[in-house]
Amino acid sequence: MYQDRIRHPGLLDKIMSADQAATLFHNGMRVGMSGFTRAGDAKALPRALAERARREPLSLTLITGASLGNGSDGLMAEAGVLARRMPFQVDPVLRGKINNGEVMFVDQHLSETAEQLRSGNLAAVDIAVIEATAITAAGAIIPTMSVGNSAAFAQQAAQVIIEINLSTPLALEGLHDIYIPQALPGRAPIPLTRVDQRLGGTAIAIDPARIAAIVITDSPDSPSNALPPDAETQAIAGHVIAFLQGEVAAGRMGPELLPLQAGIGTIANAVLHGLIGSPFRNMTMYSEVLQDSAIALLDSGQLAFASASSITLSASMHQKLMNNIDHYRSKIVLRPQEISNHPEIVRRLGIIALNTALEFDIYGNVNSTHVCGTHMMNGIGGSGDFARNGQLSMFVSKSAAKGGKVSSVVPMVSHVDHTEHDVDVLVTEWGYADLRGLAPRERAPLIIERCTHPDYRAPLRAYFEAACQRGGHTPHLLEQALSWHARYRQGGGMLA
Ligand code: COA
Repeated sequence: MYQDRIRHPGLLDKIMSADQAATLFHNGMRVGMSGFTRAGDAKALPRALAERARREPLSLTLITGASLGNGSDGLMAEAGVLARRMPFQVDPVLRGKINNGEVMFVDQHLSETAEQLRSGNLAAVDIAVIEATAITAAGAIIPTMSVGNSAAFAQQAAQVIIEINLSTPLALEGLHDIYIPQALPGRAPIPLTRVDQRLGGTAIAIDPARIAAIVITDSPDSPSNALPPDAETQAIAGHVIAFLQGEVAAGRMGPELLPLQAGIGTIANAVLHGLIGSPFRNMTMYSEVLQDSAIALLDSGQLAFASASSITLSASMHQKLMNNIDHYRSKIVLRPQEISNHPEIVRRLGIIALNTALEFDIYGNVNSTHVCGTHMMNGIGGSGDFARNGQLSMFVSKSAAKGGKVSSVVPMVSHVDHTEHDVDVLVTEWGYADLRGLAPRERAPLIIERCTHPDYRAPLRAYFEAACQRGGHTPHLLEQALSWHARYRQGGGMLA
């Protein structure tokens, strides 16, 4: 019955229910699961593990590509399955347990997890759970809508559980490019010099003898929850386009720009949407996730090719992609996240990195992860991989949050993910600040006047002027630098 999806004849007798497969897990095990930005995640095993943990103690370390969909992280967190979680998440329930100290969360650059597992810096995973479209005659795994860390997990785990998802079209075969960097020391360069280049095979090769179970599912990926563009995100997009037009006019890049990376979430998606109808042509993306905006740009004819590690779409865009997969397969490639985010390639291709900040300070340091310096939002994701190594590192943000109570431009960020050394351009709905080649004392007035919400400009000017009286290369009033956050935490707004 499943011969078109399970083509290795010796594997048909491995089919079992998710509940049966869940009995293969033991307390304390390390588990690697597919799934990246809600795409290509295992659907049945997380539920079965949560069920089991409600009956008996089951506490695991869970490593994924990035975030899971279907509420899986929340379900497992609630049931007590997750003792330790890495490298990224977006689930509100799990977020709560991370922030109250119940779950130990390791917030990691997404390019690093696979390399750390292979090197032994992180202990190996015991079991891998990988969603697949099909298993080839040789026993290799054809992934679904993400590749993430699946190849690293499947090649390392003693036991591999495969979830065959019947809702994914067989025509996904050929979308993926599975290339694993050579062993250290003496690794040769990763031979990728063009965004549309393929380096490896289309499936994850493993020894079929390690396939311990095959579970059949048909649940689709969770749809993207990115909100549609609004006036502020449209204004941000307008400033990004104006900045890039300036780069083209200055002869630093052509009208095709350099390959674009765009981060997760509402703002980055809206900014890319804003590129539709812009003067740029024949663009390419070398990113980690493709959202609706990337498919819309392919449709507009302005985007020639998109490389990523996952595709996370709204329900309607997902249906469109699935219905026309033969068309899109020639314009999209999905790679392991250690390749989509690899510093060597990001630097070689000269990526324009476009990521979202929670807040940034008057000197250009960026906080992407910690609300008021203590509470984890999602994680750094791939933003550091791209920001540190890209040709141009841009961060976008709305200038204020929480109904204006919070300024996204602050005297000093309460947590640093991207230092001033890795940040070239900051953009809010008010404008952009081009920080290239500027010293801290030159950056501050630009950031205050160009990017800050008008309500916060005067207090920031006053702070900067008073700090300059004290002196320093990067002037600060240390006793006041985080007072804005403290005021907000005490229940007020950031303004005195
Ligand atoms: N202080 C407190 N909360 C803030 C804030 C600040 N300075 N700035 C934003 N927020 C809140 C918003 O109010 C919103 O809260 P809500 O969900 O309760 O409404 C939430 O953060 C998300 O903000 P939003 O404006 O909707 O932006 P987004 O969906 O684009 O997400 C990040 C922004 C920063 C949270 C998100 O991009 C992220 O997690 N980035 C880090 C990972 C990353 O960059 N990966 C890139 C490679 S994929």
